This record gives sequence, structure tokens and C-alpha cells, in this order.
Amino acid sequence: MEKPLKLYSDLAPWFHLLTQPDDYAEEAAFYRGLILAHCTFPPRTLLELGSGGGNNAAHLKAHFTMALTDLSPQMLALSQGLNPECEHITGDMRTIRLGRQFDAVFIHDAICYMISREDLQRAIETAYVHCRPGGVALLAPDFVRETFKEYTDHGGHDGEGRALRYLEWVWDPDPSDSTYLGEMAYLLRDETGQVRMFHDRHEEGLFSQAEWLRLLEQQGFQPHAVPFEHSDALNFGTPVFVGVKPVG
Ligand SMILES: C[S@@+](CC[C@H](N)C(=O)[O-])C[C@H]1O[C@@H](n2cnc3c(N)ncnc32)[C@H](O)[C@@H]1O
Repeated sequence: MEKPLKLYSDLAPWFHLLTQPDDYAEEAAFYRGLILAHCTFPPRTLLELGSGGGNNAAHLKAHFTMALTDLSPQMLALSQGLNPECEHITGDMRTIRLGRQFDAVFIHDAICYMISREDLQRAIETAYVHCRPGGVALLAPDFVRETFKEYTDHGGHDGEGRALRYLEWVWDPDPSDSTYLGEMAYLLRDETGQVRMFHDRHEEGLFSQAEWLRLLEQQGFQPHAVPFEHSDALNFGTPVFVGVKPVG
């Protein structure tokens, strides 16, 4: 994602009207369960890479001391308002180095912005470097190649005096490469009743389950692909990847 998307820059203050903490309660509980099940000791600290609006963190912070990192200062500012107890640090998941380790490292849907194998490998390396031996990394892409499906969705929320609605249109112009596209149209209604419209093209990465497991293993993790459990109708059956960092 070299050119900033509007959603994560100018429109960041609207992000919680697109997707908000309540939408994430079930998912965050599932991720916490996976961390507890795979970590070889009781985990207390959690680093999130690409934490965005901090929606997952809003739930996970009750159980972990969290550091939240993101490429976008505007998204971090939004998350800071929601999660003032958490440390917030600007950085690219491919290159950030904090010089310390955490019991667990989490990359949610932000991992989808790794559009080449090299980028994905670098993000996995960042997770490894920041993970304590015996700890875990948890990565949750929207799709692997085997589960990819073109679809259209819509949603949004009402805020205080303003509201947002979106249309999401996911398609793949070239099934032979490692990317697909998410076209996002946003309608923003402000306090005066005026409505503005914006479009972003989200380019996202697509790798097979075997590639994911191989990259995690090459990095030194013991990799697992775990079925994602969620009641949402838009659950495509994409696995969540868990890497356990060996001790010694
Ligand atoms: C959909 S949002 C994440 C929302 C998040 N799951 C939540 O719970 O609120 C995706 C985020 O990925 C971030 N991002 C994209 N590329 C990144 C990179 N290379 N390093 C760090 N963050 C990145 C964007 O700035 C954006 O905030």
C-alpha cells in the first residue's frame, strides 16, 4: 500500500462509522482463545501490527498489556481515543523494530496489504523478531487462494449527527497473480446533512495455505492453520495462521 488510501488518511476520523468495536467482540474472543491455547506460558503482553482503528484492541486490552502499531498516524490517533491505555507507535509492519519482545504478536486484516511474497515474508519476520520464545504469532488474512471468492457487501453506522454507508466490491482481475482488489465506495453524511462520496481501491495479497505455512516455517515458527470460527454470514472459511516460536 504505497499510496495512502483515503480511508486510512483523510477519512480516518470516519473509520469507526464503517466498522466499530462492537462488530469485533466475537472475533476478538476467538483470537484470544487461540493465543491462550498455543502460547506455552500464560501470555500477558501483546503487540499488534497494523492495528488500525483499534477495534480488536478495544476487546483484547482487558486481557493483555498492548502495544499498537500502524503505518497511518491518523488511524493511530483514532485508536488512541478509543484505547488510551495502550501504547501507540507509528511504523510499517515490514520494517518496524521496537527492540523488545512480546508474549504474542497479532496481525489482523492489515496483513492483507502484503501484496507480494517478499512483503508477507518481511511482516512474518517482524512478528518473529518481536515474539518471545515459547510465544505465538497470530495472523488473520481475509482470504487464502483456496477460499477467495468475489463478493459484494454493504454496511455502515450512524454516529452523533453524522453517518457513513459503504459498498464493498471484491474482485480479482488476474487470478494468476498474488493480488485481488477491494473497491470501496463510501457515502459520508455530515452534521449539516450534506453527503459526500469517495472511492478507494484496496489492493490485497492472495497466497495459498501451503505458501503461508511455508513462509512461517522458513522464518522459524511452528506453523498451524486453524479453522476460523465466526457466526458472520461473510465467513469464507479462511484459516487463521498461528506460529509458535520455539524455545532455544
Ligand atoms: C482495516 S484496518 C485494520 C483494522 C483493525 N483490524 C481494527 O481492529 O481496527 C487496516 C490497517 O492496516 C494498516 N496498514 C496497511 N499497510 C500497513 C503496513 N505496511 N504496516 C502497518 N500497517 C499497515 C492501515 O494503515 C490500516 O490502519
